[in-house]
Amino acid sequence: MTKGFEESLSLFKDKISDCIKSQKSISITTHIDCDGLTSGSIIAKALIREGANCTLRTSKEFSKDIVESFKTDSRDFHIVTDLGGGFVKDLNQTLGDDWIVLDHHQISEEEKDNQNVINAWKYGMDGGSEICAGGMAYLAAMSLDEKNSDLSEIAVVSALGDRQDQGDRKSFTGKNFEIANTAKELGLVEMDLDLLLVGRETRPLAEAIAFTSQPFIEGLTWNKETCLSILKSSGIKLKEEGRWRVPAELNEEEKKLVIKTITDFSPDKNTTEVMSELIGYTYTFPKEDKRSFLRDGREYSTMLNSCGRINRSGVGMAICMGDRNQVLSEGEGILTDYRKKIKEYMNILSNERWRLSENENYIMVNGEDIVPETMTGTISSLIAGSPKNIGKIIILRTRGEANTIKFSSRKSFGCKSEINLSELMRTAAEKFDGIGGGHNAAAGAKITKDKLDEFLKYLELNVVNVSSSSDHQ
Ligand code: C5P
Repeated sequence: MTKGFEESLSLFKDKISDCIKSQKSISITTHIDCDGLTSGSIIAKALIREGANCTLRTSKEFSKDIVESFKTDSRDFHIVTDLGGGFVKDLNQTLGDDWIVLDHHQISEEEKDNQNVINAWKYGMDGGSEICAGGMAYLAAMSLDEKNSDLSEIAVVSALGDRQDQGDRKSFTGKNFEIANTAKELGLVEMDLDLLLVGRETRPLAEAIAFTSQPFIEGLTWNKETCLSILKSSGIKLKEEGRWRVPAELNEEEKKLVIKTITDFSPDKNTTEVMSELIGYTYTFPKEDKRSFLRDGREYSTMLNSCGRINRSGVGMAICMGDRNQVLSEGEGILTDYRKKIKEYMNILSNERWRLSENENYIMVNGEDIVPETMTGTISSLIAGSPKNIGKIIILRTRGEANTIKFSSRKSFGCKSEINLSELMRTAAEKFDGIGGGHNAAAGAKITKDKLDEFLKYLELNVVNVSSSSDHQ
């Protein structure tokens, strides 16, 4: 840990101790996605353990209005997790010194100078791949008390939800690797190299393939009948003693045959390359029930993403904070509904070809009146995970609240473009009075509808021409 980071965590600890001693109430405001729900829950749990008086709420984005709302809020001190980049001046002006941001999104040099900003990039950590807000929150929780090491399990979920498993074979790197190893030493997580099918330990093989959307194989993803039919022809033994076999029960030869069967089915020339995505490290939580969807770290993270995106963040945060009662079946129901919705949107987008405008570098997708604003990130990630879009940049847009248009951009698998999407989205949005930002390979923006044509023209020109170091036109 760098000296600067240690100093920041010690500042965090001092501020929290001061709040507790002087009985100041604390609000935690966090993002609605998996990383937001996990980071907010980690901090809330750690504060509750310290005896702090705190509340936890979510927001789908950060804005001046939210900062303003803090002023009239009855809480004395404000912690913002997985949000806040770009609003440091406003936070300072409105709240003085009574705030802390724990984040991993790329921010300007000016914002890095503020001591209340505890952002991964400030300490030389890559916030896009080495640590996310959940990891930052975990390290902050550890600075309060090392007993919080059990929260490493939730930090693993956050990193999976933010797709930070970008090392060899979907392993973790940097701080994520260290945190996952802490969880492993505590017996909270098991890491194995295996087929990355959804429901590895719980679903029959055909269903597991159908539920797997990364990579997104048209015709197989969400199509159980076709999956079953190709598996039957492959000769893999699908049942044992009358019970469907699950992916974890296959031997090495059978696993190879599964990959070959999927590859042979897909007409896309890039499928073989993309299939490498199907083998990697799995993260299993052995303390969760054997039949529970929470046993698999990636499925856990999908459930959290789905909670936030359909306005049920509370369910996700309750689960992260340890509730395993009624809320668990609610979480499972949300996950099922969410998958149904994604399937519906993807079907429409693939049937209505007029919604796509494509060249060799990028695909612009018009999701207006189909994709809800909160689900643009999920859908753009799925489009980016399809073998036929390999190497391209995906830019999806849809209608947002109050006459706005929301954009979500992703670099697909194998994309060699040097462009930094965070920079592109931020610069473009600022040029047209909007807000934008994120990471090198995944970023978003929001503008008002009247600026749409100009904004699109700007993106079309700059998505190809701009490298991370050159000036935008
Ligand atoms: O919305 P979407 O999932 O496409 O966003 C991708 C990443 O960019 C997320 O991490 C999100 O928090 C971030 N983002 C941002 N500022 C925005 C929009 C998105 O930092 N204005």
